[in-house]
Amino acid sequence: MILVLGATGTTGSALVDALLSGGHEVTAVTRDPARMRARAGLTISTGIEPADAIYLVAPPGPEIPEHDLANIRAAIGLGIKRIVKLSAIGTPDHPVRETQLGSWHQPGEAAVRASGRSWTILRPTTFASNSLAWADDLREGRPIPNFWGDGRQGVVDPADVAAVAAAALTSDAHDGQTYTLTGPELITVPEQVAVLGEILGVKATAVDTPSEAEGARLVREGGNAVVTGDVERILGRRPATFRAWAEANRARF
Ligand SMILES: NC(=O)c1ccc[n+]([C@@H]2O[C@H](COP(=O)([O-])OP(=O)(O)OC[C@H]3O[C@@H](n4cnc5c(N)ncnc54)[C@H](OP(=O)(O)O)[C@@H]3O)[C@@H](O)[C@H]2O)c1
Repeated sequence: MILVLGATGTTGSALVDALLSGGHEVTAVTRDPARMRARAGLTISTGIEPADAIYLVAPPGPEIPEHDLANIRAAIGLGIKRIVKLSAIGTPDHPVRETQLGSWHQPGEAAVRASGRSWTILRPTTFASNSLAWADDLREGRPIPNFWGDGRQGVVDPADVAAVAAAALTSDAHDGQTYTLTGPELITVPEQVAVLGEILGVKATAVDTPSEAEGARLVREGGNAVVTGDVERILGRRPATFRAWAEANRARF
């Protein structure tokens, strides 16, 4: 049995699908069971239950350490033997100031490594699906505010992150590994917007919008211009491009 936190969310929902198609028994954790579609092999729960492995997801924000530490404690208490933690690119290996970029996932990563269980840490870069936040602006012909300038990123398809998570949860081949998960190419926000305009058949523009947020500055200065081969090494195929993600998800805009 594999327990999936964040089962209604971006990577968790894709992971539930991947695990069920692979014939695994899954318990999906959500605060609102009505949001999960019943399927063979799927149990729905509002909390952590005994399982062989757990996909540890925390909702984004400064409370990530609190969520992670409580869930890791519960998983250890229930004897769950394998923990796969969804972290984020750039998370430092060692403790950092609470205000420093990358600090949200660091305590959870450290706790997973010290858990005495089998573990894998996944550090994905920016999800392609973040662009769904632009859907209203795209539909209504408004320019997309661009906080990231011409900073390039290796934008990743969350389904590829889920496929790697499925591999790590269902074998011991990835125990003790920390993976940085990216797409196959670097792309800027204006380029993403142009791809979406083409695929959706709308006029799409990005307007440079200054932001002092640390994450925006890092991307603008080229600090997240990272592409790795981890997804391809693990899955044995190239990760999806932003264009491929957009084509597969056009109905969601
Ligand atoms: N977005 C990115 O580009 C990106 C990149 C790298 C890493 N990440 C990391 O990925 C993780 C997930 O981010 P996401 O934006 O993709 O979120 P998400 O997976 O779409 O949502 C997380 C899930 O958490 C649950 N949730 C929300 N608020 C909660 C709360 N207060 N208490 C308990 N559960 C709660 C929700 O499930 P229910 O409502 O069903 O309970 C939701 O399905 C974050 O830790 C983030 O740092 C994101």
